[in-house]
Amino acid sequence: MTPNDQWRHWRDQRLPTDYLHLDSAAAGRSSAETLRATSAHAEREAIMGTYVAQAEAAPALQKGREELAGLLGAEPGGIAFVESASAALAALLATWPLEAGDTVAVVPSEWGPNLHAFAARGLRIAELAVRPDGAVDLEALRRFVTGTPPAFVHLTQVTSHRALVQPTAEAAAVCHAAGVPLWVDAAQALGHADTVSGADAQYATGRKWLTGPRGVGLLAVARPWWDRLRISASELDRVSLPEGSSPVWLLESGEAHVAGRIGLCTAVRQHLEAGPAGVRRRLAEVGRQAREALGEVRGWQVVGDPAAPSAITGLRPAAGQDVTATRARLLAAHKIVTTAAHPARAPREMTDPLLRISPHVDCTPRDLARLCAALAEAA
Ligand SMILES: Cc1ncc(COP(=O)(O)O)c(C=O)c1O
Repeated sequence: MTPNDQWRHWRDQRLPTDYLHLDSAAAGRSSAETLRATSAHAEREAIMGTYVAQAEAAPALQKGREELAGLLGAEPGGIAFVESASAALAALLATWPLEAGDTVAVVPSEWGPNLHAFAARGLRIAELAVRPDGAVDLEALRRFVTGTPPAFVHLTQVTSHRALVQPTAEAAAVCHAAGVPLWVDAAQALGHADTVSGADAQYATGRKWLTGPRGVGLLAVARPWWDRLRISASELDRVSLPEGSSPVWLLESGEAHVAGRIGLCTAVRQHLEAGPAGVRRRLAEVGRQAREALGEVRGWQVVGDPAAPSAITGLRPAAGQDVTATRARLLAAHKIVTTAAHPARAPREMTDPLLRISPHVDCTPRDLARLCAALAEAA
């Protein structure tokens, strides 16, 4: 058995393709079963009525909510389905007890649109000290949160543009010792890294590493905050929730892509069947293998620590290549799907565009050789 045999099943669960998908950090490839579950729910809506179908699907949705809560170390009552990670952050910023002028502390690799959302909410942004690899310096964090406690610390657990993973569980312990809440952006972490951290709020999308359908994200709020959220909901929204519901569920849109939520619940079940710990180890291995192979390609430089436990690799063009044109050429001439990562993704850290490579567990040495050959040509 070659090391890849174990993960061939993951590829076999998906529709055949001659495209090489190295873009899970944008959106993963949904399994055939996830696609079937999504469309089957849409069909039931047309057959029996949308709200009747939703009521029938309630146990499946509740199971999915419980399983997602397990992955996030949260309680099912603290999980709200929303449309995306950005929508989740918007809901948190709108309801968390914050005042204009409050401070949020971040690291330099923070996701650009999050910085924008913080500023739009009237928050002041403070920058935390980091180690040479970009991970938060926990001792400096301890000094910061005890000396000048911010309204909350915000960490993006898995960085979007290069291999970097933040120590969120350790950071949560440091923050909590000082009475400061921690929020975690798990958009790139859910289904990729260990997302049980003890954070007060976490949020993600299901379409990336969990390979759920597009348009379904979620947030998780720790119980002590449930009744402190300033949720504005109409009487109709309140009476529409089943008795005994958590207030956090008021953050969900009443009108929602329920078929997509069903699809995500299917993807979560398949992720649990594959074994989250094994998937995490495999993604770290795939990332290291990609960086090792790409480190040999003339004209490109791997950015950051090659050993970081992330499947995301950022590549810097070292021979004047245009990243957007390279991405387009990889797609058009080689059927290889990647991302051209603009510096606006992380404006406090990135200065130039990077080519992002983000394979999933099924990546083979042959896939990497195909990418390396195409890139060498592009250089
Ligand atoms: C780190 C990070 N945070 C947030 C987001 C936003 O996610 P969404 O597109 O679901 O709003 C992304 C998307 O790529 C991301 O990489």
